Amino acid sequence: MTKARPLLPIADRSDLMIQITDDQSRTLMDTSESITFHSASGAASETRHVYLQNSGVLERLSRGLSTSVLEVGLGTGMGLLMTLDAAISSGISIHYHAIDQRLLESEIIGALKIEEQLKNKWLVSAFLAWRNSLGQTVKDGEYLWTVPKEYDSSESPDLHSGNQIPSHRTACGELPNDDDKNESVCHSAGWGEKENAVISTVKVTVRDFRDVVLDTKAGYDAVYYDPFAPAASPELWQAVCLRHVRESMQSDGVLSTYCVSRQVREVFERAGFSVNRVRGPVGGKREVLVARPHIAGRTNPGIEGFEVEER
Ligand SMILES: C[S@@+](CC[C@H](N)C(=O)[O-])C[C@H]1O[C@@H](n2cnc3c(N)ncnc32)[C@H](O)[C@@H]1O
Repeated sequence: MTKARPLLPIADRSDLMIQITDDQSRTLMDTSESITFHSASGAASETRHVYLQNSGVLERLSRGLSTSVLEVGLGTGMGLLMTLDAAISSGISIHYHAIDQRLLESEIIGALKIEEQLKNKWLVSAFLAWRNSLGQTVKDGEYLWTVPKEYDSSESPDLHSGNQIPSHRTACGELPNDDDKNESVCHSAGWGEKENAVISTVKVTVRDFRDVVLDTKAGYDAVYYDPFAPAASPELWQAVCLRHVRESMQSDGVLSTYCVSRQVREVFERAGFSVNRVRGPVGGKREVLVARPHIAGRTNPGIEGFEVEER
């Protein structure tokens, strides 16, 4: 029998509810399809374990390595914010490219209280201010956020309220791209930012992932592959999508995802990955997946500290 978790309504949104997951962190439930943005057994534990840890990001940061991350499915921003938090705490830069077909409104993200999972709680204020600067409805395009290293939260807007960013703080302009005149680029300076203090950058692409052309020279060190499950988003679990992801990664990059079914593993292999099942988060799925670009003769070494089961 499925365990019932507390659900909280969101004002004016009958299609979404907040779910309190087993580690007390919050996620969203799409009530029309009964799908959640994270595992009900712990949104923050899943994010930390399946993505930050299994992708090797935490290990790279602990070794002082600047890291580039691709996330397919930005959703609530929890993966992004927890990754930036870890990077800032380590004093290492992250270059993060997140893709989603739509951006959630800042009021909804604010209601998830993601700051409770962070050491650098101001990151949520800074992210919400940047999100507000884009306006309520965000057109397909690419949007840049230059993350300040420090942020004076006394000048920041209320975490859980709407459009309070002073307009002079944000510079928005057209992205110089003749191919798509709809694309715009927004850089948020952030309050209290010290000169030369910027260490991390975020690019958010708002578009259906099937229409995104990934840069084969991007060289992502880590990929958080986090669309909805194959039953809800079958289009994103096709070899054609995953092949593009592989071509944008470093040859020693690591992709991590929560979905580990035989069909999904076979699709990853058809897309040119070597796959391993590794232990899932405490209280959550027994196994999750890590995948590396296949190189003949190389065994998938797995992630330090995890029992890796060879297929
Ligand atoms: C499981 S949630 C992502 C959770 C997210 N990583 C987080 O930390 O909150 C899946 C996301 O994939 C996005 N998505 C689903 N289908 C998509 C598509 N075809 N292209 C781009 N994004 C898609 C949804 O909008 C949703 O935000």
